[in-house]
Amino acid sequence: MGIERSVLVILHILGASIWIGGMLIMALGVLPKAKKSNDASLLKNYEGSFHILGMIALTIQFLTGFRLAMIYAGGMKGLFDFSNHLAVLFVWKLVLILATMGLFVIFKKKTLSSLESDKISNATSMIWLLTLISIALMVLGLGFSRGII
Ligand code: HEM
Repeated sequence: MGIERSVLVILHILGASIWIGGMLIMALGVLPKAKKSNDASLLKNYEGSFHILGMIALTIQFLTGFRLAMIYAGGMKGLFDFSNHLAVLFVWKLVLILATMGLFVIFKKKTLSSLESDKISNATSMIWLLTLISIALMVLGLGFSRGII
């Protein structure tokens, strides 16, 4: 593996760890705790400390993923040649990361800003949607390198 691809893969896995880990902690750790104690501030505080880091991780994923996919597909043209399975994986990843970025902003600006302590379940579906999409992005990534999908 060349030096460029090695660096890109390391950054990509680091970004994936931050994003997936951050979402899993929110879904499996902070959300149940906030529900149990009827305390929306737990979620708001957690998201507050994760937001910038999460956005940086998503940007890294976008840039490194795009370049890695170009290397796999042998250039920009190959990324949109849908007779190639890699192009299909690429477009799915592109759509899902753009959806993630949009949903993450809506989550902060709408869902969380108006979240009250007695209605924490209003945030459940958004948190789980973002978490499941993050796992789907990981599985699609395994499609490129290991052909599992
Ligand atoms: C939050 C967003 C993302 C996550 C969590 C994620 C996760 C992953 C993971 C875990 C792998 C490693 C697979 C392995 O080691 O075999 C991977 C590989 C890959 N991902 Fe992503 N990914 C994301 C976004 C993207 C985007 C936006 C693209 C391109 C549009 C992309 C393109 C790729 C490519 C080309 C590989 C193969 C890298 C290689 O093994 O050389 N990813 N991704």
